[in-house]
Amino acid sequence: MAKPTTPPAGDLLAPLNSWGPPRNRPEIHADRTLEIRPGWRLEDPGLEADAIDYWRRLGNLPKAIDPALRAKELVAGCYKDGRLIAVQTAILQVAALVRARFALLRVSTDPAYRRSHAASTLTIFARNYLEWWAQENPDERLAGIAGVVEAPMLADGQRDPYWAESGLGLIGFQPDGSQVRVSWFRHFRFE
Ligand SMILES: CC(C)(COP(=O)(O)OP(=O)(O)OC[C@H]1O[C@@H](n2cnc3c(N)ncnc32)[C@H](O)[C@@H]1OP(=O)(O)O)[C@@H](O)C(=O)NCCC(=O)NCCS
Repeated sequence: MAKPTTPPAGDLLAPLNSWGPPRNRPEIHADRTLEIRPGWRLEDPGLEADAIDYWRRLGNLPKAIDPALRAKELVAGCYKDGRLIAVQTAILQVAALVRARFALLRVSTDPAYRRSHAASTLTIFARNYLEWWAQENPDERLAGIAGVVEAPMLADGQRDPYWAESGLGLIGFQPDGSQVRVSWFRHFRFE
C-alpha cells in the first residue's frame, strides 16, 4: 500500500463544525498544548513502543489482544510533557447499514489525564488526518470515520444526535444499545 509521503496541508486540529443543531453542551475545542503524533500506516517504532507500554501500564487491553498487533492500528498518540496519555486506533470496516467503508475508531485516555480533552483532540485530528489519507489512497474507498460509543461517561453527550466538532452523527445502535456514529468525508461519493 502506498505510504503518504507529505503531511496534509491545513490545520489538523480545526473542528469540522460544518453543520449542526444546537448542542446539549458547550463546544469542545482541541487542546493545542497536547502533542498529537500521527501513526496511521506509518510504522513508527517509537510511537508503537510507547503505546504498548501504555496498554501494559494501564492494563486496559482485553487479554486476548496482542498489544504489538494493536499497535499496528494506531491512528495517533497524544502526549503531554513527553508522556503518552491517550491513544487512538482504528480498523477499516464496512458499515452495512450505509454500505460504505469507515475507519472504526477506538480511543482511551489514561485515567490520570481524563477530562483534559485528550480524546476529543485525537478524534478531531483523526477526522482531518484520515480524510487527507483517504484522498491520497482512493483505492481504499474510505468514506469516513466511525465509532461505537460504549463509554457510560459519555451518556449525556449521546443525547445529541450530531457531534459537530467531529461530524459524528448517529446512524443506529448495536444490539447492546451502544450508539453507532459515522462522520462522512467531504470528498466521498458512492460509485
Ligand atoms: C471515554 C474516554 C475516552 C474520554 O476520554 P477523555 O480524554 O477524558 O475525554 P475528553 O476530555 O475529550 O472529554 C470530552 C467530553 O466528553 C464528556 N465526558 C468525558 N468524560 C466524562 C465523564 N467522566 N463524565 C461526564 N462527561 C464526560 C464531557 O462532555 C467532555 O467535555 P468537558 O470536559 O469539556 O465537559 C475515557 O474516559 C476513557 O478512556 N474511557 C475508557 C475507554 C473507553 O470507554 N473508550 C471509549 C469507548 S466509546
